[in-house]
Amino acid sequence: MGHGPAAATAARFARMYARTPEGVAFAPGRVNIIGEHTDYNNGWALPAAVNLATFVAWAPSDDGAVRVWSETCGDEAVFEMAEASSAPAAFWARYAWGVGMALLEEGLPARAVDLYSDSSVPIGGGLSSSASFEVALALAYLGEKEAEKVPRERLVHICRRAENHFVGVNCGVMDQFSSVFGAEGKALLLDCRSLEAREVAFPSDTVMVVADTTVRHALGEHTEGYHKRQQECRRAVEVLARREAAVSSLREVTREMIEAHARELGDVLTRRVRHVVSENDRVLEAADAMAASDVAALGDLLRASHQSLRDDFEVSCNELDIMVEVAEGIDGYYGGRLVGGGFGGCTISLVDEAKAQSFCGELQRRYKEATGLDAGIHAVRPGRGAGFKGARCWT
Ligand code: GLA
Repeated sequence: MGHGPAAATAARFARMYARTPEGVAFAPGRVNIIGEHTDYNNGWALPAAVNLATFVAWAPSDDGAVRVWSETCGDEAVFEMAEASSAPAAFWARYAWGVGMALLEEGLPARAVDLYSDSSVPIGGGLSSSASFEVALALAYLGEKEAEKVPRERLVHICRRAENHFVGVNCGVMDQFSSVFGAEGKALLLDCRSLEAREVAFPSDTVMVVADTTVRHALGEHTEGYHKRQQECRRAVEVLARREAAVSSLREVTREMIEAHARELGDVLTRRVRHVVSENDRVLEAADAMAASDVAALGDLLRASHQSLRDDFEVSCNELDIMVEVAEGIDGYYGGRLVGGGFGGCTISLVDEAKAQSFCGELQRRYKEATGLDAGIHAVRPGRGAGFKGARCWT
């Protein structure tokens, strides 16, 4: 057996269940470089899978039940995939159950397995720990042979459906898409309306530094805030669609329309729409800047995105703002912003690779001085999408 997280996962499975696993699946988390709260508005996003991932080792179980050990939660769940009433009580375990249920709903096999799972993606930190768990689980339930027959886009929809319908979090499509379609050294310019994506090479001498504020607003609170923003966006579409025939989502809204209908929208909805419309423009500009390796321009777009998320969309928090503010002026920093849904979690900073180590140390020091908290800091680069250990990349 080799080294690395997949081999370690297999070894821990073997210790826990006293037999060798049938396989090990992995699925990465993602950093969304730019394009936040645009996916569920049919907009644009520029995510990249990262080299932090969830690993799941499995083998068929002998009693028809699914048994999942989550190393990250230090907890076990046992359940059968049948009726909605079979849902496990622990929130984290609903993901495991939900993915199986979503596979069955689609007429695909979700085998009863014993599972061992571990993850290097910070939980609830805005790097898609949930999607990486879902995708790795889906691959494990299917097994390598079945998974090869399932088109990747279908897997994306199944995992999203698991989260929307069986877990109850109404996420967009970006996270599952990035985890499945991620490519080494590339970001994905993703059109969330058509689900078409174009790979854009990430600048070779630049890294993304992910800084975890360690602040987590209670899960319910986060989800509530997230769902509230979705409702606000839907209300804004209703108002605008009454006046503008072309509008069926915020994707079709222009800056001129916002100005023309600001009174009717009112202050809050005007600001929500302004964020989404300006963020879509920033994504397209960022993809161009990235293709031209113009990291200074890219950094400025990230700064503008943070301001918009903070002031117009109002999903930042004190610690995220501090992390972004104290990064200014550190050698090698091009720009940064909060990443993911917000309300706590991580920031992403674009940093000159040669300065990455000193940058991380200084960011940690400044954040501690300002808040008293120890940030978790990782330098990451775009990595490959989900697959099986030892197999060729899953296609
Ligand atoms: C969460 C959701 C995504 C997306 C982001 C905000 O990560 O899971 O679908 O909406 O928030 O951009």
